[in-house]
Amino acid sequence: MRTRVPEFLARGSRTVVLTGAGVSAESGVPTFRGAQGLWQGVRPEELASPAAFAQNPGRVWAWYAWRRDLVRRCRPNPAHQALARLEASLPWFRLVTQNVDGLHTAAGNEQVLELHGSLWKTRCTREGTVKEDRRSTFPEMPPRCPCGALLRPHVVWFGETLAAADMEQALKDAQQAELFLVVGTSGIVQPAASLPGLARAQGAHVVEVNPEPTPLTPMTDESHRGPAAEVLPALLEMENENS
Ligand code: OAD
Repeated sequence: MRTRVPEFLARGSRTVVLTGAGVSAESGVPTFRGAQGLWQGVRPEELASPAAFAQNPGRVWAWYAWRRDLVRRCRPNPAHQALARLEASLPWFRLVTQNVDGLHTAAGNEQVLELHGSLWKTRCTREGTVKEDRRSTFPEMPPRCPCGALLRPHVVWFGETLAAADMEQALKDAQQAELFLVVGTSGIVQPAASLPGLARAQGAHVVEVNPEPTPLTPMTDESHRGPAAEVLPALLEMENENS
């Protein structure tokens, strides 16, 4: 594997990692795009939207309850674990994830920016109160806040904007990166997909790990094809030949 990653890591370069659903694929969490992302034949885009929730909150919650049950049984894989070791080994590290599964935190990463929210939090549709809530069966469906209003998953849906503070932080981090790793994302959902290009424009060395080429591939300095659970630990734990 020809790579400059060990060289960047050996000098303690400022490192940002952007992850997508692919990093959790080998933990058993289905990615969004492709047949395995379907739930009862329905695409996530038709469930993860304010319009879908307004029309049928019970159906959207049934999908989230199913995902909570599924993800609860999943464990961090060697890719998550390699990223936890990476954070512990570097003076300046940021992990920006589009995943809502919580597996980076479960693996031991502390600096996790969950750009699309969390499967394990609910938000009151009236008061906006966010609470950690790990249930997948609720006394009533769809679940309600004690104030009487509907609860919704605290995740960013299609057609919604990301929390401004989170996006600002992600942009700031990307601009400071010397090494930028993009792992397991199809690179088509904005604004997360713009982060690697932004980092590269500021001089970062951009490295992709994905079994397939993506729209981000042309703007990377290195692309490594293969499953993250195999490629990432190998990449991050290679000896630096220049040392
Ligand atoms: P996608 O499902 O769009 O893409 C998953 C990516 O992971 C693809 O590029 C696959 O080639 C790659 N992949 C598959 N198996 C892999 C493996 N074992 N190792 C590494 N990569 C692998 O997921 P995201 O890019 O995360 O947003 O999707 C972005 C956003 O779209 C999600 O956060 C979600 C979705 O709609 C919201 O819910 C707002």
